[in-house]
Amino acid sequence: MKPLLKSPTKATSLGLWMLLFCAQLLFCNVALGQVKKQVFRADLIKGLDTFMHTVIPNATLMEGDKLMALDEFFRALKKLNPLNNNGDLLVRYAWPPVLPPKPLTGKQFSEKLKSLELKYQEVFTAKDYVGCASNSSSSRGYPCALWTLFHYWTVQNGLPSYPLFPGNVLRTIWNFVKYFYDCPDCVSNFEKMVKRRPIELVKTHDAEILWLWETHNEFNKLTATQFPSANMCPTCRNKDQSWRNDEVLKYLKSLYAEANFSFDGLSTSKGYKIKSL
Ligand SMILES: *[C@@H]1O[C@H](CO)[C@@H](O)[C@H](O)[C@H]1NC(C)=O
Ligand SMILES: *[C@@H]1O[C@H](CO)[C@@H](O)[C@H](O)[C@H]1NC(C)=O
Ligand SMILES: *[C@@H]1O[C@H](CO)[C@@H](O)[C@H](O)[C@H]1NC(C)=O
Repeated sequence: MKPLLKSPTKATSLGLWMLLFCAQLLFCNVALGQVKKQVFRADLIKGLDTFMHTVIPNATLMEGDKLMALDEFFRALKKLNPLNNNGDLLVRYAWPPVLPPKPLTGKQFSEKLKSLELKYQEVFTAKDYVGCASNSSSSRGYPCALWTLFHYWTVQNGLPSYPLFPGNVLRTIWNFVKYFYDCPDCVSNFEKMVKRRPIELVKTHDAEILWLWETHNEFNKLTATQFPSANMCPTCRNKDQSWRNDEVLKYLKSLYAEANFSFDGLSTSKGYKIKSL
């Protein structure tokens, strides 16, 4: 990359100036040519809000493989939950660990959730998407929030408590997409990727993080954007533009570390556990 600034003294003073300037603005992504991407907790909350209050209630009787997919989803969510303390309890009681789970309709789920929400309040406090807002460059609302949740899952699953076996999160995501994502083209694309790079071959948590990243980038190829951009992560590519997976992994782990999440769009950061190393 061409250096933006030539003399080091100029660079320092301009850097300081930009930092001060950025501090003045609440929304400032660009510092010294490097784009700082952030994960917004509001996006995760709003995405789960939509899934639980709009997508599930719309389902007719859920049984068989669809029910199993929902069961897996909630079991993963209980261990890798970005909601606040009340949200932990809400999820735990909304989907009790009954094996095998009993068939139910979306309406039944919805009624149970509603009654639990009288007790566990202030969980879905994000009114709008922030990073996934339709006016931001990565737009796309709900799908964007789902990708965010899934990356969060793979990275959190690599923390030393290792909540789930490697590959488990990916299977959960794939079954979720198959049964709960209303987009036949997306499902068939996802299926092609799962066939080409079988999830059974994912044996480590790092491989799980990278598997999802590669899959997401294959979807992104349709729009010709690859993540992370050179501005977001200058070290993530070799000179010939091929990926440096070790650097991508480092980048994803720091981007999806809860300690680095933004609380923009939420009225408080209280009540959230920050799981970290
Ligand atoms: C609700 O379900 C119907 C039929 O399955 C579907 O066409 C519609 O898009 C769904 N609506 C939402 C909001 O998911
Ligand atoms: C997008 O819209 C929201 C409210 O609808 C606003 O708060 C936010 O600042 C906007 N973001 C950008 C990048 O314009
Ligand atoms: C948060 O992000 C910074 C860089 O943006 C990184 O140095 C740090 O390691 C990240 N925090 C965690 C817990 O990964």
